[in-house]
Amino acid sequence: MKNIVVLSGAGISAESGIKTFRDADGLWEGHDVMEVATPEAWQRNPALVLDFYNQRRKQLFEVSPNDGHKALVRLEEKFSVNIITQNVDDLHERAGSRNIIHLHGELKKVRSTIDPLLIYDWDEDLILGQNCDKGSQLRPHIVWFGEAVPMIEPSREICRLADLLIIVGTSLQVYPAASLMAYAPANIPMYYVDPNPGTSFELSNMKNLTIIREKAGKGLTELVEQLLIN
Ligand code: APR
Repeated sequence: MKNIVVLSGAGISAESGIKTFRDADGLWEGHDVMEVATPEAWQRNPALVLDFYNQRRKQLFEVSPNDGHKALVRLEEKFSVNIITQNVDDLHERAGSRNIIHLHGELKKVRSTIDPLLIYDWDEDLILGQNCDKGSQLRPHIVWFGEAVPMIEPSREICRLADLLIIVGTSLQVYPAASLMAYAPANIPMYYVDPNPGTSFELSNMKNLTIIREKAGKGLTELVEQLLIN
C-alpha cells in the first residue's frame, strides 16, 4: 500500500476559525509570540504564558474539523497515511485521522518542568501551583521557540518512507519542520496546498512538485478525490 505523508501547518485549521501565525499582523491571537511562546517568557511571566495557552485550549471546544481535515481522513480508505503536524490543536484527531505526530506539542497535554517524559492529558485551565507527581510546576506540552523538537527524528524516518507527500497550510518559515520534505525520496510526487504558498531552499529543490493555490478545504478535497480515483 502506498505511503502518503502529510506535513500540515496552521493554514489547515484556518477555516475552522483558528488564526494562523504569520498571516495577519505578526501577532498570534493578539500576542507577540516571543511574549508567550519562549522559555524566557515562561521565566519572566509564567502566569501570562499559562493564561495564553488556557485560552487556546478553551478555543478548541468552540471549533471543529473542516473539510481539509476530513479529506485527509478519506485518504486512509486507500493509502497508509501519516500526518506530521506543526499544529497544537486536536482537529486532525477529531476528524478521525489515525497516525498523527505533533511536532510542536499539544494543547491538550501538559508536562512536568523537571521530567519532560511526565506528560498528562489536560482539558482544563492550568494554573500556577499545579504540580506534577514529582512536585514541580506543570507547563504546557508545547515546543517553544528555542527548544529542542523531540519528534523530529521519528518524523524524518516517516518522510524517508514516503511514496507521496502533501504539504498544506504552512509558510515554511520555521525549522526544522520546514526541512522535513528534504528527507523524502527526491522524485516522489509532492503537492503543496496553500492560497499563499511560501518559498524555501528545500521547496525549490523538489523535482516533482505541484503547487495548488487553494484553501485547504477546497484544495485538499479535490486533491484527495483525484488520488482516490487514480
Ligand atoms: N488553507 C490553507 N492554507 C492557508 C489557509 C487556508 N484556509 N489560510 C492561510 N493559509 C496558509 C498561509 O498562506 C500560510 O502559508 O497557512 C500558512 C500559515 O503559515 P504560518 O502562520 O507561518 O503557520 P505555520 O507554518 O504552521 O507556522 C509554523 O510557527 O509560530 C510557530 O510553532 C508555531 O507551528 C507553528 C510554526
